[in-house]
Amino acid sequence: MAKKRIPPKGTSALNAQPRLHQHAHEIQRYGTVNHALPLELEEPVRLEMTEQLNQLLADTMTLRDLYKKSHWQVAGPTFYQLHLLFDKHYDEQVELVDSIAERIQLLGGVSLAMAADVAETTRIERPPRGREEVPVQLSRLLDAHQLIIGECRTLARRASEIADDGTNDLVVSEVLRTNELQVWFLSEHLVDVPLVKAKEPSLTAGAA
Ligand SMILES: [Fe+2]
Repeated sequence: MAKKRIPPKGTSALNAQPRLHQHAHEIQRYGTVNHALPLELEEPVRLEMTEQLNQLLADTMTLRDLYKKSHWQVAGPTFYQLHLLFDKHYDEQVELVDSIAERIQLLGGVSLAMAADVAETTRIERPPRGREEVPVQLSRLLDAHQLIIGECRTLARRASEIADDGTNDLVVSEVLRTNELQVWFLSEHLVDVPLVKAKEPSLTAGAA
């Protein structure tokens, strides 16, 4: 039997040495929800909602990162305004990511967090590592928004059907409306209007 070490007089048994490199089993597996919570929402409802919210989370995290990529890599005469706009939208997506992830946790679930897991889960097409032209950057962002908006509409309706009003409210008031607004700001950049010289009306138009 090992001898119990007796601390020297005047010292306590406590030790200031940090305990490093610790490992243990997970306390909750991904894809599960806590059995009972005082939310008046049954376990199957919370399980379904957290699963769908994790899909929305993975896609929102991907769109967030697509905005930072666009912010860094944008080129051309509209560099400055797009550089700023992309970063503004990035910041707004960061807020959404936090709201969605925390909704999953409060429903008793486990939110996705790490890039590798997000990459495996997202439905947004992976862009190349290199730089792309502005119209292509804008199109990629708009495609990602469209996918997320579709998910929001489906998820909001389902949340309402199974009486998860909090998820319905989050998805409609925050996620859907932010995405709709960002779509407007992006898509107006793809309207082909002259910058300096107005298009003259053709001579034949209006002559009849
Ligand atoms: Fe920056």
